[in-house]
Amino acid sequence: MLSFEDVGLRYGTGSEILTDLSFTVEPRSFQFLTGPSGAGKTTLLKLVLMSLEPTRGRITLFGRDAATLQKDEVTDIRRRIGVVFQDFRLLDHLSLYENVALPLRVIGRDEGSYRAEVLELLRWVGLETRITALPSVLSGGEKQRAAIARALIVRPELLLADEPTGNLDPTLARRLLRLFVELHKSGTSVVIATHDLALMDQYEAARRLVLADGRLHVFE
Ligand SMILES: Nc1ncnc2c1ncn2[C@@H]1O[C@H](COP(=O)(O)OP(=O)(O)O)[C@@H](O)[C@H]1O
Ligand SMILES: [Mg+2]
Repeated sequence: MLSFEDVGLRYGTGSEILTDLSFTVEPRSFQFLTGPSGAGKTTLLKLVLMSLEPTRGRITLFGRDAATLQKDEVTDIRRRIGVVFQDFRLLDHLSLYENVALPLRVIGRDEGSYRAEVLELLRWVGLETRITALPSVLSGGEKQRAAIARALIVRPELLLADEPTGNLDPTLARRLLRLFVELHKSGTSVVIATHDLALMDQYEAARRLVLADGRLHVFE
């Protein structure tokens, strides 16, 4: 569902941050994307989301060459990808419920058709008692789970999460990992960018895509 062929990326006129990346992400797969801070994990996720263009090489998403997509096709493809950003990106003036429901409102669904789905997902991430709360009163862990619920509400085929446990204590991080594994078992491909070795040790069966010195090493 996703492949990189000899992809290189430089910012501006600097040297290449990512060099000769070639890998695939298969349907229904689970992988950690890892490497130290500054290794290029977030940059790689931005390439997948087509918010950055590679300097060279080819990126294929759901069978389509990313470089050839029209604007509306980019929008369609992005809808098949759920993203949990490192900084959550919740809207401060909307309640937790409204934040999670927003992607459905954007695609024109009416509330009657999705209310139960949103509530069920909020239950799944353990936020059912917080639905009317504004983001400003939520803890880091609650915001994190709200961002995950919002990414999942559109039932993406591919979920990308950037350092999803960065703000969490180890117990919550473990719980969150279980959510991601459950999601994977229900058929979604999951890519979790993390430099948290302890988190990766919790799920040793996962593939590891390791960035080091701009290059990617894959451990099956
Ligand atoms: N917009 C940008 N312009 C220039 N350099 C950037 C930009 N974003 C990230 N970088 C640089 O690219 C490298 C990889 O960053 P990043 O992808 O954020 O790494 P990670 O997510 O693994 O910590 C770092 O050296 C960072 O300073
Ligand atoms: Mg990062």
